Amino acid sequence: MKWPEHGGQPEMMKKLLKAEELEVLDFSANLNPLGPPQWLQRELEAQWKKLLYYPDPNYSFSTSALAWMERIRDKEILLTNGGAEAIFLATKYFEGKRAGIVHPAFSEYDRACRHYHLQVTDILTSHEEDFRLPMNQLLESLPDLDVLFLCRPNNPTGVVISKAEIKMLLEQGLHHQTFLVIDEAFVDFVPHEALTPLLKEYPNLILLRSLTKMYTIPGLRLGYMMASEAVINEIKDFQIPWSVNGLASAIAPLLLKDKNFVAKTVSWLEEETRKLRAFIESNDFYLSNSSVNFYLLQDKRNPEKTETLFTFLFQHGILARHTHNFKGLEGSHLRLAVRSEEENDKLIAILKKWREQK
Ligand SMILES: Cc1ncc(COP(=O)(O)O)c(C=O)c1O
Repeated sequence: MKWPEHGGQPEMMKKLLKAEELEVLDFSANLNPLGPPQWLQRELEAQWKKLLYYPDPNYSFSTSALAWMERIRDKEILLTNGGAEAIFLATKYFEGKRAGIVHPAFSEYDRACRHYHLQVTDILTSHEEDFRLPMNQLLESLPDLDVLFLCRPNNPTGVVISKAEIKMLLEQGLHHQTFLVIDEAFVDFVPHEALTPLLKEYPNLILLRSLTKMYTIPGLRLGYMMASEAVINEIKDFQIPWSVNGLASAIAPLLLKDKNFVAKTVSWLEEETRKLRAFIESNDFYLSNSSVNFYLLQDKRNPEKTETLFTFLFQHGILARHTHNFKGLEGSHLRLAVRSEEENDKLIAILKKWREQK
């Protein structure tokens, strides 16, 4: 079977599995089930006339607002067409150079590196080590790399790299002119130690953000990048003009201002994760050390039966995310989203059924 590259494609999966009629709950995408914020539709309708004009090519208003909220200067931030554009722009900055990617990781880093002809070294984390960073190996590799891609919290494991580890890598990177590109697409889901203050100290740091996941707006396309003024200046030069549409750009600061929505999401996530973790671990399943709205799952008693588990869940109306295109996993685990209480309860009931039949 040719597995799709990304999650969140239930219709395609139903077609592939020849079950078009089946009702499935989509646990394969990692979007916030509480979103989008209620006010968003009203605001988009109110601002629709933005579509009648070219946006300001510098997105000055939203850039300033975002910079103010992040406590950095306007010249250190670049609005992008989703986190995906931020990944491709950051990668182009290192065109033809040497990259390291820590796996398992979001597949677009590898795709962007191949697109811009970077020479890639794969560095693997493992289930046995709870997907922690292999710090010694990384510190040794840095002199041979121009850029290291990290995802914090990581997709697909949900593991958060500590600020202390990041600082250690940045420090070593400074000595060897090695940059760190850190994708923080899911960072708002977890109370975390912010990395933005490090931008002042480390010109070799590039932070990438996406508004897609937290606010459940995959169709709007919004993200941004934060780095030194010199890096942003150069990257801005090769961004496609009007890459971010006027409506998206107008909405960006309003989304970031809605702190209540983020707080509500964080407390919902803590509650649901606690319940899921309690069930999953007491029933002999492996659950990755995730702090975000998705996690890796494996049946500890039958680790080789992940594909059978995938099919079992699907037949019972749950679409999980396969992990065939994550290096270092190659299908060995499933990635599941944390969904609403009712949906998570359904997942628990089906996992119980799986356990009972074994
Ligand atoms: C880690 C990570 N970064 C970036 C993206 C892309 O985000 P966007 O939809 O904002 O382009 C994704 C989407 O799945 C992701 O998982």
